This record gives sequence, structure tokens and C-alpha cells, in this order.
Amino acid sequence: MRANAEDYMTLALLAERMEAVGRTEEAKLLREKAAVELGHAKAIFETLVKAEGLQATAKELADVEDLQHVSEYNVVAMKAKEEGHPDIEKMLCSFAEQEKGIAEVLKRTAKAL
Ligand SMILES: [Fe+2]
Repeated sequence: MRANAEDYMTLALLAERMEAVGRTEEAKLLREKAAVELGHAKAIFETLVKAEGLQATAKELADVEDLQHVSEYNVVAMKAKEEGHPDIEKMLCSFAEQEKGIAEVLKRTAKAL
């Protein structure tokens, strides 16, 4: 499902970029393919929820956000700092904080289920 979600997002962003430079037809085709990826992600999500439950699915994503994404952003932010890119470091640190916020919402959501 994550691979489908990534492909969906990349296709949607490419479509936006194509639209911005006036390539409307290509943007339309990319959006159609993005919708296919979203359909795949939804089908897999529904299968996961059916097998594991909504609470476990939300909790699993919370763990990914909290344990994996926060540290990944922090590692890359420290690398940016070492390489003398304070602007990139600042951006990545703020992304890490936002990932924590996403994890918190997911944990609260999972508890509410
Ligand atoms: Fe994340």
C-alpha cells in the first residue's frame, strides 16, 4: 500500500507540474494514472483493515511516523547541518516536528476506536 501511495503522490505532483507549464493533456493522463494507484492503495487498505482491524492499522502507521519518519528527518537534518545548509536543516527539523504531530493524532485516533 505504501508503494501505491508513493506512486499516487508522485503522479499527482507530476500532473501539477505539467499543468503549471501548460501541458494539460499530459497532466490529465498522469491524474488518471494517479487515480489508478489510489484505487490500488484503497483496495489494499480495505484488505488490511479487514484482516487486522482499523485500530491496529492506525497504530501501525503511528509507529512508522513516530519511530521511523521522525528519526529519518532528524538524521538528514543533521547531515544538512554538517554540510552547511541551515535552511534545509531548519525545514527538515520542522518536518520532523510535524511527523510527531501526525503520530500523536494517529495514536489518539487508534485509542478512540
Ligand atoms: Fe510520515
